[in-house]
Amino acid sequence: MVHSIISPSVLASDFGNLTGECTRMIKEGADWLHMDVMDGHFVENITMGAPILECVSKGVPGIFMDCHMMVAAPEKWVSDIAKAGGSLYTFHFEATKNPLALISQIKAAGMKAGMAISPDTPSSAVTDEIAQAADMILVMTVYPGRGGQKFKPECLPKVTELRARFPSMDIQVDGGVGPSTIHVCASAGSNVIVAGSAIFGAPDSKKVISELRAVVDEALKKAGGEA
Ligand code: DX5
Ligand code: ZN
Repeated sequence: MVHSIISPSVLASDFGNLTGECTRMIKEGADWLHMDVMDGHFVENITMGAPILECVSKGVPGIFMDCHMMVAAPEKWVSDIAKAGGSLYTFHFEATKNPLALISQIKAAGMKAGMAISPDTPSSAVTDEIAQAADMILVMTVYPGRGGQKFKPECLPKVTELRARFPSMDIQVDGGVGPSTIHVCASAGSNVIVAGSAIFGAPDSKKVISELRAVVDEALKKAGGEA
């Protein structure tokens, strides 16, 4: 059974105080921290890599680092991110020729494996074999590359379709998610919620985290899942 997981995206945090920001989020109710790794190739921006994640993992004991790898060669960074303390390694379907081999590589390195699909990638990219091997599917609700973009509701039918096919799979949404868009995400069937600006930009992050969770829990209850 799936349950609600709230994963604030540190892209909207104060990078100069990253460990402090992560510690604060956990105190305010976050389950995971969403670490957006961008390489300047798969997407235009550059954010952070394994050395920074390693500092965060040392500075925030027990942290679950949900690593969203917006990188052109996801195979290349598996071992570095595992050594840095990554918990979940989510690669982009669009960036690899062999998702199944990559999932095995990630698991052999001791991490959970996730696969992300960008707005133009259909849900059929998630084959039964991939869904069986992976721990999570990320349905992007904006084009990857930067925070603070407008939510794309046209991506949600993919969540609905994936939830129907895989009732016990963790399905994450990322991009433009916040109190005004969480209802449609939750009723489509996503249970892992990433929010950057909506959480870090709020005067009371704790309130936003609990609001997001309440909406997901309610939708799961309605769907007959476990809240
Ligand atoms: C976008 C990133 C997101 C981003 C979300 O490329 O993958 O994780 O930080 O930020 P918001 O919630 O502000 O859209
Ligand atoms: Zn992300």
